[in-house]
Amino acid sequence: MDTRVVACIIRLTLLTLLTSPASSCRYLAKLSSVGSIRDEETCERLRGLIQRQVQICKRSVEVMDAVRRGAQLAIDECQFQFRNRRWNCSTLESMPVFGKVVTQGTREAAFVYAISAASVAFAVTRACSSGELEKCGCDHNVHGVSPEGFQWSGCSDNIAYGVAFSQSFVDVRERSKGQSSSRALMNLHNNEAGRKAILSHMRVECKCHGVSGSCEVKTCWKAMPPFRKVGNIIKEKFDGATEVEQRKVGTTKVLVPRNSQFKPHTDEDLVYLEPSPDFCDYDPRTPGMLGTVGRQCNRTSKAIDGCELMCCGRGFQTQEVEVVDRCSCKFHWCCYVKCKQCRKMVEIHTCR
Ligand SMILES: *[C@@H]1O[C@H](CO)[C@@H](O)[C@H](O)[C@H]1NC(C)=O
Ligand SMILES: *[C@@H]1O[C@H](CO)[C@@H](O)[C@H](O)[C@H]1NC(C)=O
Repeated sequence: MDTRVVACIIRLTLLTLLTSPASSCRYLAKLSSVGSIRDEETCERLRGLIQRQVQICKRSVEVMDAVRRGAQLAIDECQFQFRNRRWNCSTLESMPVFGKVVTQGTREAAFVYAISAASVAFAVTRACSSGELEKCGCDHNVHGVSPEGFQWSGCSDNIAYGVAFSQSFVDVRERSKGQSSSRALMNLHNNEAGRKAILSHMRVECKCHGVSGSCEVKTCWKAMPPFRKVGNIIKEKFDGATEVEQRKVGTTKVLVPRNSQFKPHTDEDLVYLEPSPDFCDYDPRTPGMLGTVGRQCNRTSKAIDGCELMCCGRGFQTQEVEVVDRCSCKFHWCCYVKCKQCRKMVEIHTCR
């Protein structure tokens, strides 16, 4: 993934501010080619940041590199989760990454906000555990003997620190705008839901000690789920997301399901305000709206990756292409594997 793209997604989903998107992307591109974010001056030069974020950046310069790694993680996961859908989380050369899709309050925007907030919490927590930060380390609140009788030991992931950082740094944008707009409420809710996807799936990992692998003594620590798991959870929430609208309850504004027959969403669910476009056609006025012409599809699938739905009824072309595979592999003593190259023809279908 191009660093420029990473820079742009940071700007778009975490720091969205600048009036001129293209110039800020170029600006950040220059910055990311300089290397890691090291000094306080860099925080000033990150012009996409609002003042509160510059302050946070200065107070925690050492954490900012993890924030950037988080953004990369978010892009990769988004593209993986959406690889078989019409909107595939793809980017345009030197264009804002998620384009209009994210500026509208759609389901896709809900996913992007959730995965971004989660990825920052995740990457910062990782950085804490790996010992690269002075401000945080392993979670020392996890200690002693558990009710199950094992010993807490080793490095428990300090998810509280990562989540708190994500809350202050990622959410500050919405908070600074005032929490009254329905879009700010939507973003804040989805940011929190993204972080919950990690928090509610923390696991206990253990190691056995004792004579020849017997488990006389067991030591355990708390660990985050792999980020792929987090992506899967948020993608599930995307599939079941709730359409909401803003309502005034007393003096506060809240989001409630548009359809009152639906059960209310929980803290872990994603919410959106507007239905998504169909993503069928290329629209030059809408960045990120690439359309599905030329996309590969599956001829036999009835799902969204199937040619019928992916190609929006326009039909598809079939090509035979030759693929070269390793086959008839034999293990030779000792120690290598020798394979033959097999050529086979496969059919590839692409949307018209
Ligand atoms: C996403 O779709 C666009 C066209 O709609 C295509 O050019 C691009 O290669 C796709 N990206 C991925 C990662 O599949
Ligand atoms: C196409 O879809 C069918 C049915 O959903 C599935 O069994 C098959 O593995 C898919 N093929 C590819 C190449 O993904």
